[in-house]
Amino acid sequence: MTTQTTQTQSAPARANAVGVARSRVEGVEKVTGAARYAGEIPFADLAHGWLVLSTIARGRVRAIDEEAVRALPGVLAVLHHKNAPRVRDDVIGGLGRPDPIVEVFQDDRVPHAGWPVALVVAETSEQAREAAESLVVEYEEEPHDVSFGADRPGTYTPEEGEAAKGDLEAELAASHVVLDASYTTPEQHHGAMEPHAVTVRWEGGRLEVFDSNQGSKWVADDLANLFSLDLSAVRVRSEHVGGAFGSKGLRAHHVAAVMAATELQRPVRVVLTRRQVFATTGYRSPTAQRVRLGADPDGRLRAFAHEHHNLTSTMREFVENGASYGRSMYEATAHHTAHRVLPVDVATPTWMRAPGEAPGSFAVESALDELAERLGMDPIALRVRNEPTVGPVSGLPFSSRNLLGCFEEGARRFGWAGRDPRPRTRREGRWLLGTGTAASTFPSGVAPTTAAVTAEADGTYTVRVTAADVGTGARTALTLIAADALEVAPERVRVRIADSDFGPAWVAGGSMGTRSWGWAVQAAARDLRERLPLAPGDIPAEGITARTDTTELIARLSAKERYSYGAQFAEVAVDVASGEVRVRRLLGVFAAGKIINPLTARSQFTGGMTWGLSMALHEEAVRDAATGGHVNADFAGYHVAANADVPDLQAEWIDDPDPDDPVGIKGIGEIGIVGTAAAIANAVWHATGVRHRDLPIRPDRVLLGEARREETGPHA
Ligand code: MOS
Repeated sequence: MTTQTTQTQSAPARANAVGVARSRVEGVEKVTGAARYAGEIPFADLAHGWLVLSTIARGRVRAIDEEAVRALPGVLAVLHHKNAPRVRDDVIGGLGRPDPIVEVFQDDRVPHAGWPVALVVAETSEQAREAAESLVVEYEEEPHDVSFGADRPGTYTPEEGEAAKGDLEAELAASHVVLDASYTTPEQHHGAMEPHAVTVRWEGGRLEVFDSNQGSKWVADDLANLFSLDLSAVRVRSEHVGGAFGSKGLRAHHVAAVMAATELQRPVRVVLTRRQVFATTGYRSPTAQRVRLGADPDGRLRAFAHEHHNLTSTMREFVENGASYGRSMYEATAHHTAHRVLPVDVATPTWMRAPGEAPGSFAVESALDELAERLGMDPIALRVRNEPTVGPVSGLPFSSRNLLGCFEEGARRFGWAGRDPRPRTRREGRWLLGTGTAASTFPSGVAPTTAAVTAEADGTYTVRVTAADVGTGARTALTLIAADALEVAPERVRVRIADSDFGPAWVAGGSMGTRSWGWAVQAAARDLRERLPLAPGDIPAEGITARTDTTELIARLSAKERYSYGAQFAEVAVDVASGEVRVRRLLGVFAAGKIINPLTARSQFTGGMTWGLSMALHEEAVRDAATGGHVNADFAGYHVAANADVPDLQAEWIDDPDPDDPVGIKGIGEIGIVGTAAAIANAVWHATGVRHRDLPIRPDRVLLGEARREETGPHA
């Protein structure tokens, strides 16, 4: 749709930069290797820490034979529960209580496989690894349980886990068609290209942290509180981040590195291996879901029920909010949605791209396709029939809602009209072909943020905001927003981010980063413009600075249902003899607020959709019940979609600025993955006549489905 343009030196004074495709301001630095990541910033006198992770899933550490490894070359320290500094365990941080997984080396308890039991510090990374891998740890092992499923003993309903209206059972009983189906999604991992890494040093009485995170002020404040330091005594920077997706908050390696730097009074770096990333930095819980839908002959929903189970650790409750998906999406006379949680002996799951909506949409959007089939209705028509005018459960108005516009535009671009709804009717050689669709939504939020904009004496502008660019292009988007607010060309704007000294700001999370930061930057820039002297020469050497804090502006937002929307379309080819599924086409059309930079925005959407493809067909972390650990904690065993798996992939959008947001943003980081897996599973059904309710749709499952179909006939 849009091609990249290059702005030249003769760019007009008034930029209109927002909405024009622009490559990343730090792009050249990144592709030439000049950009330094947390694990590669050079420091004199740097020591290297290596985490030692528990090999048992539950029990106690009985003994750590540190003497033997202290004698190894280069070893400087072995930190563990008997000698490590104490941290506070009553901290309520910026985003709630930190996961107790960060309270490392405080006692001898082992709550899960991969729990950090020691940090070995040495002169070089290789020496640290050698010593860490030869450290003998003796355990007192206790029986563990890592198994998960619906209706297991110990499952409970979290606080505010249910939402209901109407008499569900009565409406189900009165329905013409009732669908009752169960779905599962497996444990999934973020798999950021850049593994977690941190470098820590004490400098001039301050703790300086060079990190890879989603929010430097968040990590700084949590670290300060854990170590009982003044907030001003901790500075965290995170200049470049190679992907995060929810996993890059405060983690065990940060705390271990701070302990080591404090003990040794030397800079200490801890870099995780891919296996350690799998073990210690969070993941998406597996889910087990039951959807019940009851409808009239014309497709109107009488009953909508969704029960969503996830697991959590024994240390902390984490709710994967999958049952929230339907609460805003579909009208029904009776609505009942519920979360259930099961604590087992695993590390705590965490947010992962579209937490809740990604698995929740798989179940709901698959179930709607199944219902459409039974009603003999077009799947899009069924969604149109159940489009709400206000929040189906809340009764609140929508700030704006253009789901149907997405379906209309998507159907036109994809060529949905004229589709033969009957399954297993299109064939091409060994391939069965099918198409499918699904809806998509993600909450549109905004959070208080501070920002400062300085007019420099040389005619340029400096923006300071504790944003994080985790690969999204946020730094560039903020440059464009500031340029337009200042009415100057983007070349005159320098955006500095990811430094906790810039003050409180929302994190790169919840699809709320660029929206929250952009609002604050725009407000500061406009304020500054009003205060500038008429002649640029009158700006003093230290510049003129305007600061904003959006707390009060945001508090004034009225109560509404605020969401982005999308429609996902997929075409697949399935070889039922080999079980191979190939996605041929994916199209997503989104109504997701004002698009700041079409180039990086498209990459956000298609990146999310690629995750959805990967979720549908490949991704699955497998735990060994006997050890409680992963059997495939690397990219050889944990399959993610590679280039050859990703086909003609298109993301488009329809104009949809948020009416209550001065920048117009709604947030685009997560919606791309929502509904994609359902669209693909629905297309696989259309191709083969077999429903896949368990992800991923592996070849063995396709073969099993084919065998069952032959046994029981096409209506199994
Ligand atoms: Mo994202 S899962 O909100 O970091």
